[in-house]
Amino acid sequence: MEVKVAKTAGFCFGVKRAVEKAYEVAEQRQGEVYTYGPIIHNEEVVADLANKGVQVLETENELRKLEKGTVIIRSHGVPKYIYELLKEKHLDYVDVTCPFVLKIHRIVEEESKKGRHIVIVGNAEHPEVAGIKGWCRGDCTVLKTKEEARNFLEKGYEKVCVVSQTTFNYNNFQEIVEILSEKRYDRLVINTICNATQDRQSEAEEIAKQVDTMIVVGGKHSSNTQKLYEICKSECENTYYIQTLADLDSDSFRSVQCVGITAGASTPNKIIEEVSKHVRIKF
Ligand code: F3S
Repeated sequence: MEVKVAKTAGFCFGVKRAVEKAYEVAEQRQGEVYTYGPIIHNEEVVADLANKGVQVLETENELRKLEKGTVIIRSHGVPKYIYELLKEKHLDYVDVTCPFVLKIHRIVEEESKKGRHIVIVGNAEHPEVAGIKGWCRGDCTVLKTKEEARNFLEKGYEKVCVVSQTTFNYNNFQEIVEILSEKRYDRLVINTICNATQDRQSEAEEIAKQVDTMIVVGGKHSSNTQKLYEICKSECENTYYIQTLADLDSDSFRSVQCVGITAGASTPNKIIEEVSKHVRIKF
């Protein structure tokens, strides 16, 4: 059986940097160390860090109650007021927000100051989007679907700046931007989708076209893995979404000739290697 493993599978630059820093902080800092939210959407990594003493603050309330310790701000970034809160509480913090996300914070802060209404194309529930919203002066709008984009046109904003969540699907972003271009108004569109995501999505699509079965590895809460799954599924009916090797159903691989493997940005290399090794040996 032929196995094609995507070169872009696994940790992106921002996640790699954040995870390495978390391990470094765990080793070097005295006192309690926390991450504000899980460092990545990967239960194994979070559990391993917990063994090294890094605890997860799940809510803002938990952060507010904290009196001492070091807080790691993860790659998704946080709203501006969280930095203010950390300073007010005199808490130590290590900021590992991905530089690509920081760039979006700067754009929306500057453009909203100039009076543009900010439109974030993305998923309002995602912490990265919550972080971006927290850098806008005044109101902003999050659009995820074409229908929401059409409704937005009715609102009559005159000056708009459009950015995207870094992990948003490029084609969906383009479709929404096209709808937003149907009306004449002062519009600044900045494609802030991260290259790591675009590259991973296009490679996954290409591989999914060529194989009989596709395996997408990643945490169940990871939105970029969910998107990868959707993309692969639309090209290859037999696409499986697994978190670890344990989820792989061997029965699905009988009479398969060619398998493709890709993985979300928060999947450690170790898991990808385990899955590809297993597939090569077993089938
Ligand atoms: Fe950063 Fe892109 Fe990864 S925004 S965290 S390098 S997906």
